[in-house]
Amino acid sequence: MASAAAVAQLPVGRAAATTRPSGGNYPFLLGVASGDPTSSGVVLWTRLVPDPFVPGGGMEPKRVPVRWEIARDEQFRKIEASGDAWALPELAHSVHVEVDGLAPDREWFYRFHYRSDVSPVGRTRTAPPPHRPTGSLAFAFASCQNWASGYYPSYRHMAQEDLDLVLHLGDYVYEGGIPAGGGYRRTTTPDTLRPAPQDLERWRMQYALYKSDPDLQAAHARFPWLVTWDDHEVKNDYANTQQEQAGDISALRAAAYQAWYEHQPVRAPARPDRQGGPRIYRRLEWGNLAQLDVVDGRQYRSVPPCGWGEADACAAAYGPDITMLGFEQERWLYSGFQASKATWNILGSNVMLARLDHDGPEGDRLWHDAWDGFPAARNRLTEAWVRHDVSNPVVVTGDWHSTFVNDIHQDFDRPSSPVVATEFVGTSISSNGDGAVYGPYYGPMIQYNPHIKFFDGDRRGYVRCHVDRDQFTADLRMVSTVSTPEAPESTFASFAVENGKPGALRD
Ligand SMILES: [Fe+2]
Repeated sequence: MASAAAVAQLPVGRAAATTRPSGGNYPFLLGVASGDPTSSGVVLWTRLVPDPFVPGGGMEPKRVPVRWEIARDEQFRKIEASGDAWALPELAHSVHVEVDGLAPDREWFYRFHYRSDVSPVGRTRTAPPPHRPTGSLAFAFASCQNWASGYYPSYRHMAQEDLDLVLHLGDYVYEGGIPAGGGYRRTTTPDTLRPAPQDLERWRMQYALYKSDPDLQAAHARFPWLVTWDDHEVKNDYANTQQEQAGDISALRAAAYQAWYEHQPVRAPARPDRQGGPRIYRRLEWGNLAQLDVVDGRQYRSVPPCGWGEADACAAAYGPDITMLGFEQERWLYSGFQASKATWNILGSNVMLARLDHDGPEGDRLWHDAWDGFPAARNRLTEAWVRHDVSNPVVVTGDWHSTFVNDIHQDFDRPSSPVVATEFVGTSISSNGDGAVYGPYYGPMIQYNPHIKFFDGDRRGYVRCHVDRDQFTADLRMVSTVSTPEAPESTFASFAVENGKPGALRD
């Protein structure tokens, strides 16, 4: 398709070292990515796919070697490490290189070679040494990028920011078929994309379509990402292997999880053939400044006890067996809280932690796909923060296609219980587009929720965060429209959390 052809010519941030051959077999059409940095390494990703919208992606069904290089400089004069990785047909000829042995706390440049073709150049960075004094962390978090709902001007701007890391909190792809006219993008799309993804080949094409976006590629090529999933990487509002209309979605989920692994810069535990399923919850340490826990809020959750979606509260949601994360993940999370020496303890959550009371004292209406459907599990989380005396918990969240800034009470059923954490919910990159906004529906409910300090349901964008010893600041970066990739961006509002004082104040 037209936009895929333009991709490889795009400058990668400031590193425009793309080699584009004259033939039609260029295999790096989806760009490059890096992720999951530690103080000594990072994952490098690409996929060989010269023809993204045919089964097999235009590759022969055999394994082929891909050369990778990581260098200290953009010109690759000082190559630090290099090697060959197999691109396997059973993993869609994707490549995941887990580089280790790098120096901490600096930037790196990487690229791939396949036959005579060279990939775009990516930039990435290693984390500061663990538990050592660290000055700052700059990151952006994003979610919800329905391709057919609009362009990605937010990623074009994000790629120009000075960031250490990007956090993606889910809905990286959506599960629907793609309209012939490209929906809100008004561009022609291949016929193979018309039916909704069911099998692995079609899921691969869904990722290929999304990743053909040059602005998304630029943001991947510029920073290491830490990616988790929400529901739309499989099916709307699913829980574990169940979905309201479809029933058991195990087969769909298996194909979707595999395609997710194939297209994200993630480590081996996320492989779909792992016993017990892919493990994607993980922890990143940024010196002694920040610990960042990213959770998997879909694979292990209970079916919402009171009903799917918008429903009344009920006693069953308080049962001790009700879980959002699964008990194994909960144990991992809380033992990480206990061990943490970090000043800021950031939790990346796919869905909103705070309560959103829909109808005030007269009713019990809540959104049960978020943590409001699982209050017993939410209380175990907030109690773990208190029990382990966790320093400055801050939750960053996706899902709602709206911005919220929330005080997190230890127990939302006791409004007088202490505020123990702060939550920033970021809006969507493109989902809901320009028109289908949530402000008119959710806006009038905010009055029943004094712990919600800010709400906006009408704008698209992402959140830029800066963390240092004294303060966590969050800038709401909003674009004027998603009808064009060139839309301007501005900071709509800024908030700050002071070290030692949970709750955000408007700057
Ligand atoms: Fe979404």
